[in-house]
Parts: sequence; structure tokens; C-alpha cells
Amino acid sequence: NNIVFNDKNSLLRDHEIEGMKSQLELVHNELHSKTGKGNDFLGWLDYPSSFDRQEFERVKSAAKKIRKDSEILVVAGIGGSYLGARAVIESLKHSFSELLPREKRNSPHILYVGNNLSSNYIMELLEVIRGREISLNVISKSGKTIETSISFRILREYMEKTYGERARDRIYVTTDRHNSAIGDLAKLEGYQTFTIPGDIGGRYSVFTSVGMLPVAVAGFDVDEIMRGASDAQIEYSEPDIEKNPCYRYAVERNALNRRGKDVEILTIYDPSLQYLAEWWKQLFGESEGKDGKGILPMSLCFTTDLHSMGQYIQDGKKNLFETVINVEKPKKDFYMFADNENLDGLNYLSGKTVDFINKKAMEGTMKAHVDGGVSNLMITIPELNEYYIGKLLYFFQKACAISGYMLGVNPFDQPGVEDYKRNTIELLKADEKKMNLNII
Ligand code: PA5
Repeated sequence: NNIVFNDKNSLLRDHEIEGMKSQLELVHNELHSKTGKGNDFLGWLDYPSSFDRQEFERVKSAAKKIRKDSEILVVAGIGGSYLGARAVIESLKHSFSELLPREKRNSPHILYVGNNLSSNYIMELLEVIRGREISLNVISKSGKTIETSISFRILREYMEKTYGERARDRIYVTTDRHNSAIGDLAKLEGYQTFTIPGDIGGRYSVFTSVGMLPVAVAGFDVDEIMRGASDAQIEYSEPDIEKNPCYRYAVERNALNRRGKDVEILTIYDPSLQYLAEWWKQLFGESEGKDGKGILPMSLCFTTDLHSMGQYIQDGKKNLFETVINVEKPKKDFYMFADNENLDGLNYLSGKTVDFINKKAMEGTMKAHVDGGVSNLMITIPELNEYYIGKLLYFFQKACAISGYMLGVNPFDQPGVEDYKRNTIELLKADEKKMNLNII
């Protein structure tokens, strides 16, 4: 029941990894003794074993209530307050759950808002929720992120108009205990509140109520997710790189970066992993892209994108490497059958499963890309279930922290994101002042 890291298609030489072992030891100690950069944001490190069980039970009972009284849960949040929940839900849910007949669908739909400022998106969301039983989970650590706050204001008004006093029983707020505007509002209005621990940054918060409430509402087993994360916490605290696939991944991506590879493409072979890739991009992009450093995280879904970006990887600039996510066992599979006429010439595939064909495409693609000079790392998980998703998310969080320290940055802050937030608010406030002067 392990996640396996495989580097047989990496063009790195042994001495390049050897040469980084002493630095790995250093950053491992720094992280575990909490003496490195950003050490006041390490709450995620032992969270899977130390989390607040009472809060977790509250999450589960809120989820039970929402599953009973709502057809739709609207989740308002952005960045780390959104991507983790969506990554888990999309990985595990039926690809077309929205279109399943009612009797086959036993969980509320999860709709996301507050992750953009598109007026179309918000208006169209209001259009589809009208007349349906809904609950709202607003998630924001700071409690003042503009995208989330705007959608919260709009939806709160909608819910108050629709449910009157009862709106209070359908609004759930996940935020920091301190200095949160929506936290203060929740207290005043009497909304049920869940806490984001102060020492856990957004992109490391998927295992807290930030991720677990929407995931539980979607009908997935949050205990299993936490079990996977907790096993990962133990397994990936092993300092020896030979026994720790998570550290091996962190070290090899850094070694590749030192060779001038500054783009990493996470390649997936199942579209249900697309949001996992989005979450991964945020995790690594926000953690490492600073001080003029970082590996640019990109993602592609194969075989779909082999018909577009495949060309670039094969023949374009060689400043990139790939990390392939390989899921050993599909949730469902289908045997190709023989056709009497064989007009499409596919009879040579009869008796083979579609997943087998997908795996062969993966092997063929890797061979082509490696022949084209692109290193391929591979992370294999046995199957897509709650346990392995929990394990994989923790794998990446730990790898990101180790990798960020090896790169010499603070993997737990995001000064660049703060700049944009500040500028947007300043511009909007300047505009308001201008309007006020015009009125006078
Ligand atoms: O990882 C991060 O810290 C960010 O992406 C935040 O999660 C994002 O900006 C949303 O912030 P907040 O939860 O304060 O609304």
C-alpha cells in the first residue's frame, strides 16, 4: 500500500543525487526541528496525527446535516481555500455525477464560487441554485479575500431572502479564529464556524475543515483520507532518501533544476485528476516561485494534450522535465471486443482493457519523450481512493517543503499574492474616492 517513486526514465546521474544528500539531511533537520524559514507555519507537518478530533466530529455532523437538507452545497473560496477540496472531490467522484439519475446520486452537488471575479459566473450560479435547497460553506483564512467576500455577500443576501431566519442554519463559515472579517460576521449572525489553525497556510490546509467539510458533504470517507495522511506523515519523516520516495522526488526535481530544467510538467492520464494537478500547481508555484527562483509548475492531461502540447515536449526547448502520475488500478474498466467486419482495424486490441491501452500509451509517450531528451519521473499510486489521495496530498506537501528549503526559499509565505491583493483593493478604493469627489 505504498506510493512508489520511479526514476528509471530520469536522465540524472547517480553522483548528482549523491551530491545532494548532505543538503537533504540539513533541510530535513531544519524542517523537523522547526528552525527553518517560515517555521511559524508548520502546523500541517504533524496535523494528520495531532488534529482536533472534536472539530473533526463537528465537520462530520455538519456534513451529515447538509447531505440531508441540501441538493447543492455552494463552496465559496479561492486558492488554498478552494483547490484542495476540489482536487479530492473531482478525483473521487463520478465523471458525470451532475447527469446521473437522481436514484443513483446520493450526494449533494458541490458548486464552487468566489474563485474568480466573473460576473457571468456568479449570475449563472444564482440562476441554477434558484428554487433548490442549498447550503453555503464560505472558506477564507484571512476572512477578507475580495473574490470570496464578494460572492459571500451576494449569496448571503440570496439566502436571507430565500430562507429568512433559517438562512443561519445553512451557512457554514471556515476561517481563522483571529482577525477575520467573515469570522466576526459569523459570530454576530450565529453561523456555525470551523477553524483554520493559525499555523497552517492556505495551500497546506486541505486536511483541515477547509478541505474536509466539502469532501464529507460530497460523500467521501474523510476518516480514510486522514488515515492515508497519517501513514504518510510517518513514512515520509524517514530521513534516508533510499527509503523515502517523497524525499527522492524533492531531491531529483532540485537536481534537474540545477541542470537548467526550470519547468516541471505534471502529467496525468485520467481527467479526474485535473484538479489535483491544479492544487499541485498552486502548492509548488506559490511555495517556490520567489526571490527570482523556482521551478515553473505546469500540468497536462494525456493522452488529450499529446495532440497539442505533445509536439512542444518532444521537439521544443529542453528546459523541462515531466512527473507522471500513474494510477495502477482504474475505478472502472472495459474490455475491447472483436468486431466481425473489423473495418476500423482495431481487432488486434480485442481482449485488452481500455486502461491497458492507456498504460501502453503512457509507456510509449515516456519512451518518446525520454528519447527526445526529457527526463520523466514517475509517481505510482495503487488506486484512486480516499486513502491514497490522502497519502498523495501529504506526499506533495512534504516534498514541497523539503524542495523549497533545498532551493533556499521560504516555502510557506506568498508575498507576491499579497501584492496583487493590496493593489486591487487600493485601485478600487481610489476609484471610490474619485466617484465621491465627482458627486460633491
Ligand atoms: O495558499 C495561500 O495562502 C493562498 O492561495 C490563499 O489560500 C488564498 O489567497 C485565499 O486566501 P484566504 O483563505 O485568506 O481567503
